[in-house]
Amino acid sequence: MSSALSAISRMSRVFPFAQDWKRQVKAQVIVECVFQDLDLFVPNSRGASAMLAEHGLISARRTFPLLADLAARISPGTAVMQTAEEFCASERGRRNAERLKRLFDEHGSDKGSMNGYHPVYGELFARFPDTAKVRHLLEIGIGTPNVTLVSHMGEDGKPGASLRAFRDFLPDAQVRGADIDRAILFQEDRITTHFVDQRDLGSFAELRSLGAEAPYDIVIDDGLHAPDANIGAILFALDVLAPNGWLVVEDLKESALPAFQVIRAVLEHAYDTNLIKAGSGYLLLATRRN
Ligand SMILES: C[S@@+](CC[C@H](N)C(=O)[O-])C[C@H]1O[C@@H](n2cnc3c(N)ncnc32)[C@H](O)[C@@H]1O
Repeated sequence: MSSALSAISRMSRVFPFAQDWKRQVKAQVIVECVFQDLDLFVPNSRGASAMLAEHGLISARRTFPLLADLAARISPGTAVMQTAEEFCASERGRRNAERLKRLFDEHGSDKGSMNGYHPVYGELFARFPDTAKVRHLLEIGIGTPNVTLVSHMGEDGKPGASLRAFRDFLPDAQVRGADIDRAILFQEDRITTHFVDQRDLGSFAELRSLGAEAPYDIVIDDGLHAPDANIGAILFALDVLAPNGWLVVEDLKESALPAFQVIRAVLEHAYDTNLIKAGSGYLLLATRRN
């Protein structure tokens, strides 16, 4: 008891909000969470646990931005960004973008008017020698309308909206979707869907064996939108992308960009990458260098 009290009194010195007992209990919970879940960042040093936890949080906040600075020092390209309009430079890309915007909007996907990703996809498809020959596209994130689940599309969300837009745009493609919500899996003309939890690499087994038979021209991550889950999707995609295939990671938030600049630096020796600002979000693109 006395050690708990002294921990609490130390905490109220370190965390100024821990002045009444309820707040002190909360502060204690925070300290325990930092030690349990963010141990990587806690100093390997002596000191009061509340003080170490506080330094752990500071370290968690600073580490990725500093790693991004380090990456940019060695590879300045990792800090370069483009707008969607700058990326979509070709006439074919612009024509594709117009058509894709219509299809995204018609099917109820947020990739068109809402998020402004159509110029990015328009240009990606223009970079294939023949868009009609894009045969295999996979998107993680089908679009659940179940508002009790993370990363839902709202009650009016239409599962499969973007899959249908891609299917209609690509005349010969087999389009696959994958999602953690089994309730929205469906099959229809040239679309199949599969269960996947992008935080569980083992759950990619079925998609991995399909990709081994027929590598994917495009893999899109529009799932959970957390950096560790993104890395799960990237690890999977690198194994199953066709030689000229593209990986697209959507909806990066500004505060997470340092993590993606580091990912660019890691990929750099074998992949060309772009960070693109489109509408309210950012996208990471990667394609294997020939
Ligand atoms: C933004 S929605 C996808 C929207 C859809 N791509 C579109 O444009 O119409 C995100 C989806 O990611 C799924 N999701 C959330 N966590 C996931 C995880 N760990 N693994 C796979 N999918 C996940 C959600 O169930 C949701 O359906």
